[in-house]
Amino acid sequence: MAKGPTVVILAAGAGTRMRSALPKVLHPVAGRPMVAHVAATAEALKPARLVVVVGPGQEDVAASVAPHPIAIQALPRGTGDAVKAARAHLKDASEVLVLYGDTPLLTAATLRRLLAARRRRKAAVAVLGFRPADPSPYGRFVTDGGLLQRIVESRDANAEELKIGLCNAGVMAIEGSLALKLLDRLRNDNAKGEYYLTDLVALARKTGHDCAFIEGEVEELQGINSRAELAMAEAAMQKRLRLAAMENGATLQDPETVYFSADTRLGRDVTIGPNVVFGAGVAIADNVTIRGFCHIDGARIAAGATVGPFARLRPGTTLGEDVHIGNFVEVKASSLGKGAKANHLAYVGDASIGAKVNIGAGVITVNYDGFGKYRTEIGDNAFVGSNASLIAPVKVGAGAIVGAGSVIAHEVPAEAVAVERSAQSMREGGAPKLRARNKARAEAAKKKR
Ligand code: UD1
Ligand code: CA
Repeated sequence: MAKGPTVVILAAGAGTRMRSALPKVLHPVAGRPMVAHVAATAEALKPARLVVVVGPGQEDVAASVAPHPIAIQALPRGTGDAVKAARAHLKDASEVLVLYGDTPLLTAATLRRLLAARRRRKAAVAVLGFRPADPSPYGRFVTDGGLLQRIVESRDANAEELKIGLCNAGVMAIEGSLALKLLDRLRNDNAKGEYYLTDLVALARKTGHDCAFIEGEVEELQGINSRAELAMAEAAMQKRLRLAAMENGATLQDPETVYFSADTRLGRDVTIGPNVVFGAGVAIADNVTIRGFCHIDGARIAAGATVGPFARLRPGTTLGEDVHIGNFVEVKASSLGKGAKANHLAYVGDASIGAKVNIGAGVITVNYDGFGKYRTEIGDNAFVGSNASLIAPVKVGAGAIVGAGSVIAHEVPAEAVAVERSAQSMREGGAPKLRARNKARAEAAKKKR
């Protein structure tokens, strides 16, 4: 099998229009940094290598694309110079594919189409074009008989060239043995004084090679330069993720109101109600129902479970088969065994809860004392009555019963009944007397004012 392309993702730009301390390509779309989307798309091509070019001080981009290496472009001297910054990775490339780190919506299908076009045409270079509504900031394709002659940047274009609607989207495939030779011939005698990657086309033509192009969709190729464009990319990505979820067998009752992370995994016959938000790291098995208004982050949910409405599952949550989590229940760093239930108004944090346990309304695991966090362990089939507080670290044994309202600070052995509750006092017919006393007191207070 032929070796895949060597992919170079350019990300050394300042991204000033984002007005952010964070490098532009680290801004997330569907919970994943833009550049990680581009890297994931490139990975689908089984690249021989993948390297991301960043600027000095942007080394934090490396973590988001690990284990792929980064190369550092010392000064922003243009897209051609940026590719050269990765030269150590290009030496034995069969094909070089240059992408930008700020196009998170780019698809592998489009990249495959570009690579195929270059090979079919036996071209030295193939470039991806698009027709943006406003072509003014883009390089224009000067074509001839279906082949690309050169790319002229807006600032260097004449009036005739400025009328061209077919623009450079920034994705370029280069024949591997020619890549470094052509890159080394780039010059910066242009309007910006930069080394333009786009000049490779004219250079290749000069040495008798053909250059090809294909056209792609604007929605997919639009680069993200501002927060407004980031929001548009988010909307487009969410649309894609919703469609994919439905195609894979999930029912979304009101798709427009469900927000996924790029890594959300759903089984078959999962039903998701309206207004549900998924953070990173969620995996849901078959036949799970998520009712409306849930916020689910870093949770694994086994088959047949029911969650919500209005539940919050935080990172480290593991729900076993057929678990029920009801309204206004928050779960964090806890596991619930098969068939366990917490149906109303509870906080379950740092807890290991066995199978078939019933967590009553208002139960709180008191896991934090202002300094440390401690665990609560509850055995199978235990029953924790409403409004009980479990002061961690604490254990409730299998089959034990904790009375409603109890504050449990000591271990409850298996099959024991623990009730911590003061005796109830009672005065028969005392209510009228108490009302009269309270009324008199309120009137006396009013007179004083
Ligand atoms: C470039 C293209 C233009 C194309 C447009 C599409 C060139 C000369 N021009 O325009 O034809 O229509 O993209 O958006 O290639 N970058 C670096 N180092 C640099 C300069 C840029 O890493 O020194 C990176 C940026 O981070 C960005 C990408 O390259 O990801 C494109 O740079 P940008 O300045 O946005 O593109 P233009 O030069 O305006
Ligand atoms: Ca009490």
